[in-house]
Amino acid sequence: MKLLKHLFENNRRWVESVERDNPGFFERLSRGQSPEYLWIGCSDSRIPANEVVGLLPGELFVHRNVANLVIHTDMSLLSVVQYAVEVLKVKHIIVCGHYGCGGVIGAMKGDSLGLIDNWLRFIKDIYHRNGALLDELPEDKRADRLCELNVIQQVANLAHTTIVQDAWQRGQRLAVHGWIYDIKDGLLRDMDVCISAPDQLNEIYRMEVVID
Ligand code: CO
Repeated sequence: MKLLKHLFENNRRWVESVERDNPGFFERLSRGQSPEYLWIGCSDSRIPANEVVGLLPGELFVHRNVANLVIHTDMSLLSVVQYAVEVLKVKHIIVCGHYGCGGVIGAMKGDSLGLIDNWLRFIKDIYHRNGALLDELPEDKRADRLCELNVIQQVANLAHTTIVQDAWQRGQRLAVHGWIYDIKDGLLRDMDVCISAPDQLNEIYRMEVVID
C-alpha cells in the first residue's frame, strides 16, 4: 500500500483541474522554463511562494531556507542564484521575509534548538549590530522590526555577491527586491529597498541597518 495516499490523490485532482482550465499545460511546461523572477523566501509552511504572488508553475524560480538568509558560503543558495541569473536570466530577485518568523524569533530568544542555532547565528549578528535601535522598541514590535532588518540585510548580501555584481557589470538587467509577508492578513509589503545598480547599494544604509 502506498504511503501518504491522500497526497497522491490530491496530486491527481490538481493535475486534472489544471488541465481542465489550461489544456496541454504540462506538455508545454515540459519544453522548458523561462521564469522572470527568483524568489528567496522562508521555509515556513504558511508562505507558498507561487500562490502568494499568483504565479503558475514555470513562472517563479524558488529557493527557500529557514529565515530566508543569503549566506555567501551557502553553495545551495549560490547555485540557485547563479543558475537563475546566468542561465535563466531572471530580471528580478525577490527576498521575501515574513512577520512572525520562527527563525528570527528563535534567534532573539536565544533558546537552544540544536544544529539550527548555527544557522540562526546570522540573525543574532543582525540583532547585535542593531541592538540599540531594537531595544528601544516595545517587545511586540521588536521581532517584527528584526524580521524587516533581516530582509534588508539579505538584500544587501545578495547585491554584494559576485553573481549579481557581475550581472550588472555585463549590463544585464537585474533588480533585487526586499519584501515582507504578513501571515496575519496574507499581504505583501514592499520594504522599498530595491537595488538595480551597484551605486544604489549605498541607499540601503538609510534603512538604519548596519551593512557588513
Ligand atoms: Co520564517
